[in-house]
Amino acid sequence: MTVVGNRSAGRNGWAQPDHRPAPAHETEAQTAVGAPRTTGASFHDMWRDLAPIGRNTTTNGYRRYAWTEADADCRTWFKEQAQNRGLTYEVDRNGNQWAWLGDPTAGDAVVTGSHLDSVPDGGAFDGPLGVVSSFAALDELRARGARPTKPLAIVNFGDEEGARFGLACVGSRLTSGQLGVAQAHELRDADGLSLPRAMERAGYDPDAIGPDPERLARIGAFVELHIEQGRALADTADPVGVASAIWPHGRWRFDFHGEANHAGTTRIEDRRDPMLTYANTVLAARKKAKLAGALATFGKVGVEPNGVNAIASLVRGWLDSRAADEETLAAVVGEIERAAVERGQRDGVDVRVTRESFTPVVEFAHDLRDQLSGLLGGVPVLPTGAGHDAGILSASVPTAMLFVRNPTGVSHSPAETAGEDDCLAGVAALAEVLEGLACH
Ligand code: GLV
Ligand code: MN
Ligand code: MN
Repeated sequence: MTVVGNRSAGRNGWAQPDHRPAPAHETEAQTAVGAPRTTGASFHDMWRDLAPIGRNTTTNGYRRYAWTEADADCRTWFKEQAQNRGLTYEVDRNGNQWAWLGDPTAGDAVVTGSHLDSVPDGGAFDGPLGVVSSFAALDELRARGARPTKPLAIVNFGDEEGARFGLACVGSRLTSGQLGVAQAHELRDADGLSLPRAMERAGYDPDAIGPDPERLARIGAFVELHIEQGRALADTADPVGVASAIWPHGRWRFDFHGEANHAGTTRIEDRRDPMLTYANTVLAARKKAKLAGALATFGKVGVEPNGVNAIASLVRGWLDSRAADEETLAAVVGEIERAAVERGQRDGVDVRVTRESFTPVVEFAHDLRDQLSGLLGGVPVLPTGAGHDAGILSASVPTAMLFVRNPTGVSHSPAETAGEDDCLAGVAALAEVLEGLACH
């Protein structure tokens, strides 16, 4: 098995994947519809084509934010993959892309896929591994001559990471009605541009967005393959696992209002410094989360006026918190908020907290989960703290997830990686699952 660590990872997250000579049987394979190239070759071709899109050459991280040029290039890539295979290509009312093998309207469809957008300086695998593996698994099924008795579809959900507008899984939330149209209109990026205007600039119709129950009613099962974002599989002999649950999680905006003043002349006792309150809140978050076995992260911060020689007037910090159950999560966030307010009273700083999003605990459908685990010979079943479109969809349709081993556990970072052999094992597992669900 080839596991490529961070230091030796090349442009695509793997060591020199572009320069590997293709085995003879792969070079002879065809690309015509109905006679696809072998799984490994089709996976590598797709990975190579997608790899440069939205990649920052200074950080080596991906910046594929929703409705930007990089996102548009990813979406063009998806459309071409669909068309090259003779699949029926659709964009739904919320901008999610679909590629169908079989009649999209027949019902009881087996759907797979993930997302192509990224967090700031994200890795190559979070999202794209699921989409690329989906096309490669479909190629594998066709190469095997499998005959689906149900429609099969591959989806690229828009704006999964919420990196631009602050809310994760916008495409799947809109489709499932978990994000209202009015709320979606309120979402703004860092420049104040609203989500509908951004969609419009990208060539989509913002007046069309909204719940899509008819589309969801076509789906009999949704399976998302994803790189594992932890190390549960890392020390096992299993390259692939099945998800059991997603921890409840949410995002809270903490606004610390103080008073701008001169850094060189304002006496310590006269200051109302929101940075001080913010810093203490970060420490409190770590302590409260650790005590409760939960997670709390301030990973994004904004400062006004952001001058090196001025006490800030406002510090805005975003808390991401997650826990195994909703009671623990609520308790931890409540304690962090109380710690912030108490500290703010000492510092003369006004603290306001706004919950920007919340995703309840997800328990994936037990029968589908067990079916997948059985199809794959009893692979490990594991929970995750990471959010996914699969979690959103699980409220509407039977949903499951496959995880591909992550040797370092690192994710949301340019250092994210997965072994090449493990990725192909993921494709093989997904092909088994799709065949088991759609061909019998
Ligand atoms: C999505 O990747 C999340 O868990 O934040
Ligand atoms: Mn992610
Ligand atoms: Mn993801």
